[in-house]
Parts: sequence; C-alpha cells; structure tokens
Amino acid sequence: MIVPTKSLYEMAYGNYAVGAYNINNLEQTMGLFRGCIDSKAPFIIQISKGARSYTDKAMLEGIIRAAEDVFPEAVFAVHLDHGDEQTCYDCIDSGFYSSVMIDASHETFEENIAITKRVVERAHAKNISVEAELGMLGGVEEHVAVDEKNAMLTDPDEAKTFVEQSGCDSLAVAIGTSHGAYKFSGGQGLHFNRIEQIKNLLPGFPMVMHGSSSVPQDEVKRINEAGGKLKEGAKGVDENEYLPAAKLGVTKVNIDTDGRLVWTRVHREFFRDKPEEFDLRAPGKIFMAAYAEFIAHKNEMLGSAGTLDDIRAKLSK
Ligand code: G3H
Ligand code: 13P
Ligand code: ZN
Repeated sequence: MIVPTKSLYEMAYGNYAVGAYNINNLEQTMGLFRGCIDSKAPFIIQISKGARSYTDKAMLEGIIRAAEDVFPEAVFAVHLDHGDEQTCYDCIDSGFYSSVMIDASHETFEENIAITKRVVERAHAKNISVEAELGMLGGVEEHVAVDEKNAMLTDPDEAKTFVEQSGCDSLAVAIGTSHGAYKFSGGQGLHFNRIEQIKNLLPGFPMVMHGSSSVPQDEVKRINEAGGKLKEGAKGVDENEYLPAAKLGVTKVNIDTDGRLVWTRVHREFFRDKPEEFDLRAPGKIFMAAYAEFIAHKNEMLGSAGTLDDIRAKLSK
C-alpha cells in the first residue's frame, strides 16, 4: 500500500527512523520488499533522476506497482530523491509519488527558499509533501578547526527561518555525513549537538539524514578480494548512531551505497567462484536474498523493524 510520506513521519517521529532506500531495477525492488516484510517495517522507496532514466521511468513505476500486488502487506511511500525543479513538477503531475525532494542547496539561501516555495505550492495542491535541503553535505575531517566544522553543518537559526519561509515538510540537514563509499577517514561520527540544536528550534519537524550508509569494511574487503579496487579504511555512519539520531528527530535515513556494495560483493564473488556460469538469474537470486537480509538488518538498526502491524492498524482507523 502506497501511503503519504507525511503519515509515515507522524508515526515514526522521535521513536525510530524510516529507511529510505534507492532502487534502480527489479532485483533491488524484490529484495527491498522481501526485507521489509521479513522485518515488518514500513519504508520509503527513493527514485533518483539517474534511476528514472536508467531504463525508463515507466518501467520503474511498473515494477513498483507490481511489487505492491505481490506484497500486499507492504506499507511504503514513493519519493523523488535529489530532484531539480522540473523533475519535481514531473513527479508531482505523474500522480505516482508520495513526496519529492527539491535539492536547491547549491543556490543562495534566498534562492533556495524561493525555489522550494514554488515546489511546495505545486506539491501541496496535490497532497504531496516536500523535502528540501539546507547546508553542505560533506564529511567533516578531524583536522578541520572547530569554527570551520560548524560552518559546514546546517545552521539551526537558518533552518528555522528556511522551514518557516519555504513551507517544506522535512529538511535534509548537514550533520557530518556525505554521499558515497568514502565518508569519514578517522573516528568522526554524527554531530549530535547540531541535531539537538535544530530539533530544539524546530520541535516535531522531521529531519532527513542523507549519506547514511555505513560502508562496512568487511564488505569492502570481500569486494577487493574478489577483484575489486575500492579504497579501504574510509568509514561510513556507525549503524549504532541511527537510533540515537532518530530519537532526536531524524525521521528519514537515506541508504544507497551499502546496497550497491551488496550487489558488487555478490556478483564479484559469484563470477570469481563460477567462471563457467552465464545465467544472469543465478547471481540475481543470490543478490535478492542477500539484499533482503541487508534491508531487514538496516530496519532493525533504524528501529523501524516490528512496527508494521501497529502502522497498518493506525492507517485503517
Ligand atoms: O544521493 C544519491 C543517491 O545515492 C542516488 O545516486 O543519482 O547515482 O542514482 P544516483
Ligand atoms: P549513501 O551514499 O550514504 O548511501 O547516501 C544515499 C543518499 O543520501 C541518497 O539520497
Ligand atoms: Zn542524498
């Protein structure tokens, strides 16, 4: 069942975070639904601009609608990840999306507000919610001076003004994370002080954490042992920090890279160990099972696992 993103936020806020997983193809979709059903968790499907054009946006929509039939117990929202203004309008008008992200964080503060406000007006008219972004997403290196570190994170006063003036429904905040497989080089972690300061100025308002993959080093090692050449030693977000962040209002946690690592590990090991194999379904089956297990584990760490029955009961009232 596709539900408004806002409904998922209302039930999760302050208790747990909803996993927002990027998908690009059929195998990821199957693994995602299976993993969320197995762990009894609601979830958000994220579709990036790259995912929309990888095959055809209609293919992805068809796969998701089919998955909804195959897994009738599933409760999820469909979200545009990192949209520009035009792609937001395309998704809003399609009638398929529960929410869109307008990523205008590279613009000036005023321009970011103006663009976000335009998207909010179009989206709210169709009951679609809007995620915006404020601040520079990026790992904060240990050697960087405190003042400089603070400047890289979302400013709490600016966040309050931004939310009030743009009317957005959730905000992606810079709290020390960055996208991809190379986030932290040392022992850095999330900036909990900053999360708390934002929460204090915007109580009840959902924050979104991008760049939340944990980049497990054993996964990177296995990939490299099977012929990969990923940089070792760079860390991602400690999974034990998901739930403390969720308690402070981080309600949506975006994970893509870790799933790509599962795909790479499964396929590299498969073809290393079975060089005579050429049936694409053989590694595909292993991947779907591994991806489902990976998703279920993430939902456990986010605290969303086990909440599905309660959510279904609340939604049916
Ligand atoms: O934050 C970006 C997501 O990981 C999606 O990546 O644009 O390559 O699909 P993508
Ligand atoms: P990761 O690269 O850490 O998985 O982050 C994904 C993301 O933020 C998608 O919007
Ligand atoms: Zn992101």
